[in-house]
Amino acid sequence: MECVALLLLILYVYPRISQAEDTGARTFRAAVYEHAVYLPLNRKVHVSRETALSVMMRNLRVYKEQTEIAASQGADIIVFPEDGVYGMGYSWDGIASYMEYIPEPQEVTWDACAEPFRFPNTEVQHFLSCLAKNNSIYLVANIGDKQPCDRDADPRCPKYGHYQFNTDVVYDPKGQLVTKYHKVNLFYESQFSFPVNKTPAIFDTPFGTFAVFTCFDIMFYDPAMAAIERYGVGNVIFPTAWMDALPLLSSIQFHSAFAAGLGINFLAANINFPSYNFHGSGIYTPDGASKFYYSGASNAGKLLVSDLKTVLKPTITYSNVTFDVEFPSPAFTASVFHDPFNFVPLLGQSGVVGVCHNDLCCKVNYSLSTMSDDVIVLGAFRGLHTYEGKYSIEVCAILKCKTSNYSSCGEVTMESNTNLTYLKFEGNFSVPYIFPEVLLSDNGSLNLAPIGSWSYVAGTLESKHGFDLPVLSTAMFARAYENSAGVVFVCPCALLVLVICGITIMQAPIFV
Ligand SMILES: *[C@@H]1O[C@H](CO)[C@@H](O)[C@H](O)[C@H]1NC(C)=O
Ligand SMILES: *[C@@H]1O[C@H](CO)[C@@H](O)[C@H](O)[C@H]1NC(C)=O
Ligand SMILES: *[C@@H]1O[C@H](CO)[C@@H](O)[C@H](O)[C@H]1NC(C)=O
Ligand SMILES: *[C@@H]1O[C@H](CO)[C@@H](O)[C@H](O)[C@H]1NC(C)=O
Ligand SMILES: *[C@@H]1O[C@H](CO)[C@@H](O)[C@H](O)[C@H]1NC(C)=O
Ligand SMILES: *[C@@H]1O[C@H](CO)[C@@H](O)[C@H](O)[C@H]1NC(C)=O
Ligand SMILES: *[C@@H]1O[C@H](CO)[C@@H](O)[C@H](O)[C@H]1NC(C)=O
Repeated sequence: MECVALLLLILYVYPRISQAEDTGARTFRAAVYEHAVYLPLNRKVHVSRETALSVMMRNLRVYKEQTEIAASQGADIIVFPEDGVYGMGYSWDGIASYMEYIPEPQEVTWDACAEPFRFPNTEVQHFLSCLAKNNSIYLVANIGDKQPCDRDADPRCPKYGHYQFNTDVVYDPKGQLVTKYHKVNLFYESQFSFPVNKTPAIFDTPFGTFAVFTCFDIMFYDPAMAAIERYGVGNVIFPTAWMDALPLLSSIQFHSAFAAGLGINFLAANINFPSYNFHGSGIYTPDGASKFYYSGASNAGKLLVSDLKTVLKPTITYSNVTFDVEFPSPAFTASVFHDPFNFVPLLGQSGVVGVCHNDLCCKVNYSLSTMSDDVIVLGAFRGLHTYEGKYSIEVCAILKCKTSNYSSCGEVTMESNTNLTYLKFEGNFSVPYIFPEVLLSDNGSLNLAPIGSWSYVAGTLESKHGFDLPVLSTAMFARAYENSAGVVFVCPCALLVLVICGITIMQAPIFV
């Protein structure tokens, strides 16, 4: 009798507990660190391991200091940026001594902190493992993985007899390597190899399931959107070396939009190099930016810490917008990051305007207040973006033009004297991967609209009372992945100018 009662109790209670674990609201404390990376002057020639280690230890000392601060504030996880341990702009030879052999965590159980000499030349892994263990924290960093290959057996094997991968490593609070991820979508990084495996890197923690991918990966289905859509992961770790590409792809703007559009948490850690437009880190949630940092100050690292609700499931929704109005012909065309957008101006203090491009139509009902001759326009573009990477996009954008000349619409500006006071913005996108963004001007720099000041649902971005700062852009930026499937990104020319992600094109002298 007792036994039956106990069994019933177990049967009754146990599923409830596990159910509570699966669906219950969990929270965690996240930390990201924007790191002003120390990088050596000459990154194009081979250096000794000692030289490489002295550079890396200089950066890792900052990681240690910041991890200890984050841990003392109760953080469960800390994220460091792409290229944060040695910087960017290397040649294959130049970065070789910075690489370490990283064993596959699925095959090898190795406590690098306890067993530092099991694999040769693994000082960085030893340090990171101890750092996670000493502070009982999940730690995510980006380092280089050197994997031997056999040129006879593997036709892809580089002539050097090894691969070099741009790699994220995740350590658990016991110092164990939980997962490693090789960046799939390299951006002008000739020092690194393209991996064959495009499977998402996903790991479980007591506070939720996370995926990790890097920088330019954000533009492509594999592995980024696959992790979110196919595997249903709602929390993303994003080490990046992101260079702003205004008016639609600055760091804080696009990363917050990615989180809002997919209903996910997104922990973005960027390097800090404002003189070359590498800056802007944040902890973004489905509702908006919980914490972010965007400063023009040089050599200014920054730790962000914030409490988040674990996201159990992303929200990926098609636009349900349909239009029963005729759209007039566009007033003019201008180039936005090299894409020819169709535009109409927003005239007067309020109104309703619309514009189409290749079957994407965008419509806005707006009120605004301006104290200058600012020109504000509504634009549409649906097609293949081809500048520095090929990817199909569908974009509805309200832009503040750089000057009063229409041909300046789409050019980079951080100045505006126009407040949006009401906005209902709709687009009939053909894909569900829509990232809504609001970027404001703050004394010549960038800012984001506070949580609650706007909402986004199914192709409609709405702000009932507008924003307290002047507007630079408000957009819905969508990716049409199927159109770009099979398009391989090829570096056309080593002299191309720099945009978006971590780059090799920067020559040493410009850092002096
Ligand atoms: C970890 O703790 C040990 C023991 O206190 C210390 O010797 C070591 O320097 C620490 N390592 C790191 C990376 O914090
Ligand atoms: C679109 O979907 C949202 C969310 O489901 C809903 O609130 C809204 O009424 C729908 N709009 C139209 C035009 O169907
Ligand atoms: C968007 O709306 C326009 C105007 O109603 C229509 O011609 C176009 O086919 C629609 N596009 C999509 C993708 O539904
Ligand atoms: C624009 O929005 C305002 C405020 O919600 C509303 O009163 C007005 O009817 C809308 N205009 C059109 C043409 O939909
Ligand atoms: C924009 O809003 C701010 C804050 O409410 C206000 O100080 C500023 O004067 C407004 N600017 C314009 C052009 O209305
Ligand atoms: C606007 O800019 C274009 C291109 O820079 C230039 O050719 C044109 O003359 C300008 N128009 C005016 C009115 O300044
Ligand atoms: C605006 O920026 C200027 C120059 O960067 C600075 O001197 C000034 O203090 C800033 N003003 C405010 C209100 O932040």
